[in-house]
Amino acid sequence: MSDLIKLAQLYKANKYEMGYIDVYENYFKDIKDKKLKILEIGIDKGPSLKVWSEYFKNSEIVGLDIKPIDLNIKNVELFFGDQTDLKFLAEIVGKYKYFDIIIDDGSHISSHVIKSFNYLFDYLSDGGLYFVEDLHYSYYPRYGGSRLNLNKKGTSINFLKSLVDSVNYENFDRPFYKKNKFNGMINNINFFQNIAVISKNPSKIYLYKNKPKASFFEKTKKFFSKLF
Ligand SMILES: C[S@@+](CC[C@H](N)C(=O)[O-])C[C@H]1O[C@@H](n2cnc3c(N)ncnc32)[C@H](O)[C@@H]1O
Repeated sequence: MSDLIKLAQLYKANKYEMGYIDVYENYFKDIKDKKLKILEIGIDKGPSLKVWSEYFKNSEIVGLDIKPIDLNIKNVELFFGDQTDLKFLAEIVGKYKYFDIIIDDGSHISSHVIKSFNYLFDYLSDGGLYFVEDLHYSYYPRYGGSRLNLNKKGTSINFLKSLVDSVNYENFDRPFYKKNKFNGMINNINFFQNIAVISKNPSKIYLYKNKPKASFFEKTKKFFSKLF
């Protein structure tokens, strides 16, 4: 049995029952002894923070939650506030500058998940990992999701699906396309049952690097020629 499974069982972290520990183990086994900065949204009574504290012995760990709780865990600092409050998040990143691992296990409301991701992505290090847990909530209407319309805009799962295009954004080749901040910055996205992992890293392969840049006139001509 792996160290991570043992710790999750010891502290009764529901990440084990949910099957997430296997996913985490895969990503963390080779980096667990590094000096990392880790942020988890959602503390509850602290089981997962206790797991991370023992597993990532050389790391600085931050937990945030809307409900204050009195906990003292080695290498862990707690912040209390709303995951959608950008001033509150700015206070945390102001102190830590960037994180190598971010885990969203907070409210699970789609708009919250998206708002936190949009903000915190800028403070995820290159090579960093962003986990979004409990994606089953993105199919629950009470959490802003839908079971009936799988293409519903604004659900966390559809937001994450849209990031897949950022991996391949160079192919958009539209004359007026305005690059967004995720384009070329996501190396891969993995979807597991109810959990997704976004791996940040600037693109290293430029398919079109030797291709001369088309002029505005050429791009416009190409655009209209596709229409007719
Ligand atoms: C599933 S529990 C976290 C469990 C913990 N990560 C673990 O694995 O042991 C979710 C937590 O998110 C917190 N939460 C709910 N809404 C929030 C919000 N808007 N901002 C920050 N935390 C929130 C709740 O208070 C609750 O403690």
